[in-house]
Amino acid sequence: MTLPTRPSATLTSVSIVVNPYSEPERWLAHLQTLLPDDELHAWPETGDPDAVEFVIGWRLPRATVRSFVNLRYVLSLSAGAEQWLVDGMPDVPVVRLEDPSMSDEMAAYSLYWVMHHQRSFDRALDHQRAREWREPASVPAWEHRVGILGFGLIGARIARAFSDLGYPVRGWSRTGRRGEIGVQYAGADQLASFLGDSDSVINVLPSTGQTRHVLDAARLDQFTEGSLLVNIGRGATVDEAALVAALDDGPIDAAVLDVTDPEPPDEDSPLWDHPRVTLTPHVAGRTRLETAATLVVENIERIRNGDAPFPLLDRGRGY
Ligand code: GLV
Repeated sequence: MTLPTRPSATLTSVSIVVNPYSEPERWLAHLQTLLPDDELHAWPETGDPDAVEFVIGWRLPRATVRSFVNLRYVLSLSAGAEQWLVDGMPDVPVVRLEDPSMSDEMAAYSLYWVMHHQRSFDRALDHQRAREWREPASVPAWEHRVGILGFGLIGARIARAFSDLGYPVRGWSRTGRRGEIGVQYAGADQLASFLGDSDSVINVLPSTGQTRHVLDAARLDQFTEGSLLVNIGRGATVDEAALVAALDDGPIDAAVLDVTDPEPPDEDSPLWDHPRVTLTPHVAGRTRLETAATLVVENIERIRNGDAPFPLLDRGRGY
């Protein structure tokens, strides 16, 4: 695929369709201040579909995206961009969002839930309700091994947060990383050792053809006895029926799921009521207008200057 860098001569105005997670009017107003000469529309408004060159968004229906016959780039408002790879989406370059403030939030979320588990803060609340002044069980940080499944930029940020507080860190990635924080594991062959070597597993994996149900019954059985799973990657990477079984009869003590498959879980999903499952509605790392809009506009400027925007979604890898 060659990357288009120059506007098409046939277009009279550059039109951008914006579809953020929330607050479309606030996004539109802010982006318009950063792109004063462009025509911006908040979906479902699109203006003349033939004039649309850029889409800035989280999701859009396939039919809408296909109707933009002169579309040049998608600027995704998410780090994971699998929604732009589904069948029938046009084959235009997709720029993922790589926002350090999102990684910071995901690191903070991970710290919060790992500490909650490791220091038994659930018990502390139970004690309070029972009007008891009693210390809950607590393992010191240096004895609680934190494994990060998916060691890209976000994973590395999370590793740094834990490492700074004295937790031993492990990372797993497809290809292995050298010179990173903690002990590094690579590839399918080392996944069992990684899981068995972690007391909390933080799953940051993207959704790709290779990662679907990578945490299946066999893998969930390789977790350490009494461990915690925090999923802030994508729901499709975990076999949720197998997870419930691993919570009931297997080694996993608790699961904190910020992502599920589907989202939200089906009404009759056991995840809603399971006593050792915590669900949060895909909020571990939010796309914040204040930082994300600047990054997106910098990429539009790069494209207009003939430079490559980044990071580009690698269609073969899926992230
Ligand atoms: C959110 O899940 C994202 O991919 O940015």
